[in-house]
Amino acid sequence: MTPEEFRRHGYALVDWVADYWSGLAEQRVTSAAPPGTAAAALPAGPPADGDGFAGLLDDLDRIVVPNLTHWQHPRFFGYFPANTSGPSVLADLVCAGLGVQGMLWSTGPACTEVETVVLDWLADLLDLPARFRSGGRGGGVIQDSASSAALVATLAALYRAGGARWRRGGVDDRYTVYTSTQAHSSIEKAARVAGLGDDRVRLVEVDDTFAMRPDALREAICADVAAGAVPVLVVATVGTTSTTAVDPLAPIGEICREYGAWLHVDAAYAGSAAVCPELRWVHSGLEHADSYCFDPHKWLLTGFDCDAFWVADRAELTEALSVLPEFLRNAATESGAVIDYRDWHVPLGRRFRALKLWFVMRWYGVEGLRAHIRGGVALADRFADWVEADERFEIVAPHPFSLVCFRLRGPDEPNEELLRRVNATGQAYLTHTRAGGRYVLRLAIGSPLTRESDVAAVWDLIRAQL
Ligand SMILES: Cc1ncc(COP(=O)(O)O)c(C=O)c1O
Repeated sequence: MTPEEFRRHGYALVDWVADYWSGLAEQRVTSAAPPGTAAAALPAGPPADGDGFAGLLDDLDRIVVPNLTHWQHPRFFGYFPANTSGPSVLADLVCAGLGVQGMLWSTGPACTEVETVVLDWLADLLDLPARFRSGGRGGGVIQDSASSAALVATLAALYRAGGARWRRGGVDDRYTVYTSTQAHSSIEKAARVAGLGDDRVRLVEVDDTFAMRPDALREAICADVAAGAVPVLVVATVGTTSTTAVDPLAPIGEICREYGAWLHVDAAYAGSAAVCPELRWVHSGLEHADSYCFDPHKWLLTGFDCDAFWVADRAELTEALSVLPEFLRNAATESGAVIDYRDWHVPLGRRFRALKLWFVMRWYGVEGLRAHIRGGVALADRFADWVEADERFEIVAPHPFSLVCFRLRGPDEPNEELLRRVNATGQAYLTHTRAGGRYVLRLAIGSPLTRESDVAAVWDLIRAQL
């Protein structure tokens, strides 16, 4: 493809994406097609000779779009909605166009330096504790996902516990990990990948707001220590996946300090809230954490994938992960004066994801990002008010952010049926969870396209299905 051909097709595809966004509200949110529909519409193999993109836009419209769940749709209220934006998409285009592989500082100096600076900006934006800034012993790095952040936090915790012994011989079977019953499944997955296994993960009980109970954490740790175990890691959650509960970081942090356990704070979704000063309480006690992450791709107008991860002591992370083969040796690394992000995560290669954060922060500015968060919180409050005013329904958990968990009073089955009916219309999409043993509907607001009229429409739709 010549630069001229790229320009021509590129313009057409940018137009196509812009049209996709502007027409989204008229589409179904989910596809009604049965499994196999998209696959059956594709030819048996690739063309023998390139087809010059003939019919590509038609194929996107015919095969791809009708067979998608539209995560950017204004009435997509499932999981935590995707949060891409124009500046983020344009940054991804530049990233792909540059094709830089930033594994070492020397393989893309600006790729590394922009990342270090924008993560410091982001730390300022969220008012994170000073210990996470790159000017001291800490620093930030972009991971693909909060799951990867949990994994590298686990590995750093294992290095702290076992040092060179762990690096050579692997995990000690006395090591234990603690998180709440409401924590994301990625914590258990990380423990498996790190060689600890499910049996070494303790799921700590929560209180009636679904937040981890520090007394139960202490009890679990004490019992384990008495039995000869070594607590290596506690993962606290700020904004749990099911109900956005916030674990109390200060008392949890004190317990971690007492027992020498690493504290990782997973704020995958709710961390973004801290761009607003009035929501910074979410990070109360974060100064106790050894590592922290949140996903700008969940609520900060940044396209998937982008997890911002910080450590208080970068040496613990890089010593856990660094393996330096001869072919990567270079003068800049040996000078000790540069950051090589390959030592901050599992893959060696890495793309220029920092461009997304840089573009997004430049386009929206601090106030624009705050307006996005505040808009989501206000819409969630509005929805919760409507639910509360209808005595057939109950709100099942506090809703400090943009997720409302609610249900029809009474047994689970009518709730399951209600969700099925609402989603079958294709007019909106909600997901569910279980909280306190009960089936619960979740309405998560996040798409920058969602307006009050969309939230009102889903409330009408829900009531119409009863
Ligand atoms: C609290 C929490 N942690 C981790 C994750 C996993 O996120 P990711 O897809 O970035 O791995 C989620 C996803 O919703 C989450 O809510």
